[in-house]
Order: sequence, then C-alpha cells, then structure tokens
Amino acid sequence: MRIVYVNGEWVDEVNAQISVFDRGFTFADAIYEVTAMVGGKLIDFEGHAARLARSLASLNIPCPVTRDELLALHREIAERNNFTDGAIYLQISRGAEDRDFIYSPNLTPTFVMYTQARNVLDNPKWQTGIGVISMPEGRWVNRQIKTVQLLYSSLAKMEAHERGAEDVLFIEDGKVTEAGSSNAYIVTKDGVVVTRELSNALLHGITRASLMDIARKAQIKVEERAFTIEEAKNAAEVFLSSATALIMPVVAIDGEPVGTGKPGPLTARLRELYIEDRLANAI
Ligand code: PDD
Repeated sequence: MRIVYVNGEWVDEVNAQISVFDRGFTFADAIYEVTAMVGGKLIDFEGHAARLARSLASLNIPCPVTRDELLALHREIAERNNFTDGAIYLQISRGAEDRDFIYSPNLTPTFVMYTQARNVLDNPKWQTGIGVISMPEGRWVNRQIKTVQLLYSSLAKMEAHERGAEDVLFIEDGKVTEAGSSNAYIVTKDGVVVTRELSNALLHGITRASLMDIARKAQIKVEERAFTIEEAKNAAEVFLSSATALIMPVVAIDGEPVGTGKPGPLTARLRELYIEDRLANAI
C-alpha cells in the first residue's frame, strides 16, 4: 500500500480523495510531470521542475510550490514509501468548484503525487525494440504544455496494442510530431540523429534536451528538423525518448521492419551515454 500526497497531506492510497468538482476531472484542466528515480536519486529533476513551472504559467495556474519544496516532496514521498527506483508522478489542477466553463480567478490548486515502482535501468524492451503504427495527429495544438488531456494518446496507444504494436507515431502534414508519450528520432543512413525542432507541435521532452547535449558532446551529428513518415520507414534506426522508457528502439513501423529489424547500434550507444551522464548528475 502506497502513501500518496494530496494537498499537503500524506495518506494511504485507498483513503486519498479529491473533489468530484475538481477541474482536472471535469475539464482536464491540469498539468503533470513524471520524473524517474534510480537508486534513490532523481534524474533530470531541474528540467522537470522548470517545465512544470512553464506549463502552469501557460495555463495561468499558480505554482503551489517552490523548486526547493518540490525537491523536498520528491525526497519525502520516496522515503515514506521506501521507494528507490521508478517514476514519481505529480499532477496539479486549477482546483475545484461547481462545474462551469468560466472559472473563478483564485482557486486553490489541487496537488497530488504518487510513486510507481519499476526498474528504470533494466527494460527488457531495450533488447527487442518495439513496433509502432503511424496515426494522424489528433491532439490539441498546444502540445508543449504538459496537460493531462491524454485521451487521444491513450486511444491511439490502445489501437497500437490491438494491432500488435506498442506505440504510435503521430503524423501532421506528412511529418512526424512525436510518439504517444515520448519524443521520436531517426538515425539516417549517414549516421545523423534527426528529431523534430521544438515548437507547440510537440512536448519539449526533458530526456530529449539532455540527450541532444550528450550526443553533441560525443561528436554525434544531430539535426533538429521535422522528418516524414517515409524517412522514418527508410531510416537506419528509429528510437523514442522519455523519462520512463529512456531511449527505446523502434524496430517496426506499420508492420514493416526498420533498418535491420533489430535495435540499432547508435540507439544503444546513445542510451549508454545518456544513462552514464544522467546518473552522474542525478540528485
Ligand atoms: N511522457 N512527448 C509526450 C507526448 C510525452 O507524454 C512525453 C513524456 C515525452 C517525453 O518527455 P520527457 O522526456 O520529459 O519524459 C514526449 C511521460 C513519461 C508520460 O506521460 O508518462
């Protein structure tokens, strides 16, 4: 039984409660973050804290905690749950009031956190890779804001599962925006890592930002530009990045093998470099 955080209180997960009038529930008027913990240390905490503040500011939701308080909460939730490895999920909604599209200006945000234990550094799918399907982009236009409006992504991933794949590549105007819950990359036949440039078309992944820095420092060529689904299908390698899956190889798109049909060597190297660098900088 986990201890979860709800609005300043630590409670057993079965006793945790929020209002039926919460705007996170009625309007998806809420922001979330997912931060990985490995061996009791947080990976890329500063990036997640900064993006949380940005997302809240975009929706004009007051941030209920400082960076230091947020870090202390992450440490405390881990300690209270004897938790060392997995994901720490947090969600902040605008607050609760009787259902109305027009909200009151000074609502008190609802703030919940919980842990999800898993071995972040030992994912069996890194060895096999995953299959993805392409699907039309159907999410709202402000994808740089990390809102809990995840219904389209959830339905898309369900369809992927039903078709024997694990994830999706969303396509807009012929170009890949990102995957269902991660950023997408190709490795060209010349060994260049290509990922879409930042804009409101995609979430500005914290793993992506670190990985770009790490790749450049390792003299790996990186290009930030949109790529087509055909480029992805003909690429040497394709992979995804997120806080929980880290660097995940994609070995099939729409049922057709990518490259050799096996996880690619540059993908594996980037994952090793990422893990080494981020563990050295974990707090
Ligand atoms: N998802 N793009 C989307 C749409 C995402 O939902 C995520 C993260 C990412 C990668 O961002 P980061 O590297 O900061 O984790 C990109 C989280 C893990 C989730 O929804 O569970």
